[in-house]
Amino acid sequence: LSAQASDDKTDSTASSSGSGSLVFDKDAYSELTTTITDTDGTEHSVTYHFWKAITYVAKPVDETYQSLIVSAPVKIDGKAVDATDAPILLANSVGGYMPSSVADATKVGGGGSAMGGGGGGAPSGAPSGAASNANGNTNATGGATSSNQLLALAAGYVVIEPGARGRTLKNSAGEYYGTAPAAIVDLKAAVRYIRSNKGRIPGNVERIVSAGTSAGGALSALLGASGDSRIYDKYLKELGAADASDAIFATGAWCPITDLEHADGAYEWNWGANKLSTGKQVDQTVSKVLQAQFAEYQASLKLRGLNGFGTLTARNYDEYLVKQYLEPSATTYLKGLSDSDRATYLAANTFITWSGGKATFSWADFLTHVGARKKTVPAFDAFDLSAGENNLFGAGTTQNRHFTAYGAKNDTTGLSSKRVASDIPETLNLMNPMYHLERGNPGRSKHWWIRLGTEDSDTSLTVSANLAAAAAGLGDDVNHLYYWDQGHGANTDPGDFITWIAKVTG
Ligand code: DHB
Repeated sequence: LSAQASDDKTDSTASSSGSGSLVFDKDAYSELTTTITDTDGTEHSVTYHFWKAITYVAKPVDETYQSLIVSAPVKIDGKAVDATDAPILLANSVGGYMPSSVADATKVGGGGSAMGGGGGGAPSGAPSGAASNANGNTNATGGATSSNQLLALAAGYVVIEPGARGRTLKNSAGEYYGTAPAAIVDLKAAVRYIRSNKGRIPGNVERIVSAGTSAGGALSALLGASGDSRIYDKYLKELGAADASDAIFATGAWCPITDLEHADGAYEWNWGANKLSTGKQVDQTVSKVLQAQFAEYQASLKLRGLNGFGTLTARNYDEYLVKQYLEPSATTYLKGLSDSDRATYLAANTFITWSGGKATFSWADFLTHVGARKKTVPAFDAFDLSAGENNLFGAGTTQNRHFTAYGAKNDTTGLSSKRVASDIPETLNLMNPMYHLERGNPGRSKHWWIRLGTEDSDTSLTVSANLAAAAAGLGDDVNHLYYWDQGHGANTDPGDFITWIAKVTG
């Protein structure tokens, strides 16, 4: 990495590089008390020790992002608690693959992606959900991650929140230093910092549970899938990351925007016929080409569906989503309504058959129910390089690059080369949890909590289902649900996630 931060923060850390700088100072905390309302409305008084931003690498490129905060409960509702051996919730607040900082955080839940700052803005086609993480302490996902953090603390867990570099960061030489794979390298360095401080840092470093939403969910899934993979070694070494394992115990991922090099095809397979909110239909010729790419890719994965479904293909994936995820999701939703509310909902949504306490419907009717697709075609590798992901795969002084053969071939920006750059295949592997799961990476997390709203058209509904199927196919413990009628960034069962952490780490 040639990138250096252009401000004086880099200089101030040069003197602190070396092995000593990565030792956690267990006495450098302040004591805070807060009231946390749990999911049944009960208020808890939580006193905790708070460590403000600690740089987690010996040779930081930009400490504003390469630092973490730690919160450890000491008293809950007047009772002393000892979090020495508690699970650690490692909650990132990345949104939109943007930079995410905890440098100025003064309390738990203090992270956030600078969606409005850093010269970036929301990713192309990014929904209001993503844009709303812009404001400081709330994150990309309307506070979803934040509620995980607060509930975890009230449950007696340690909460560690890492910042990470993001795609828009540019130094004074005009070089992008937060594009792929910077964010995942940073999160791995944070894990190494935590694990190398075993016995000093609060919590059980063998029980790290990662969490994140959207781009943060993608990075959380990647952190889980790629544990101790050697392909990151040179990047971690450059940063002076601690010499320790970067494997995590369990993974929480909400609406992960991942498998990016296959996401354009998956998107068209799912939402190809749906119109944009403007009422316009996207180019159906392009959509069909991309759908064919998805069929080829899905066949190559040879993934089996959960619960004995058989091999997942482009031909049966609609049936799989409906039976495995969407109908059960609607059923749970409808069961939770009062009789009169359910009757009202069913009267307004006649595509649903409600019989014997179960919802059934067709895929076609479900697509109509969701309505407008959020993104144009191609959704991720835009021909005009306008998608946020084009910036994610930027490099050097080039802000935006193509990362698929099809996107490059159809470039409309006047590039002389109609191919992806030579580093792209390796960079894609570094960013894709499917790469690691397909290879059965032994250092991966073996417990997976995956959630997605049924109305989320930021990516294809197949993306998280493939992630779940790949992990389950390796024998991992997978808990994957879709939230009925919820959009991008939803987290409607955070209390269940906290209970799940206790179960899997216990
Ligand atoms: C996010 C949303 C997107 O639509 C996308 O392409 C990447 C990231 C997000 O909300 O983090």
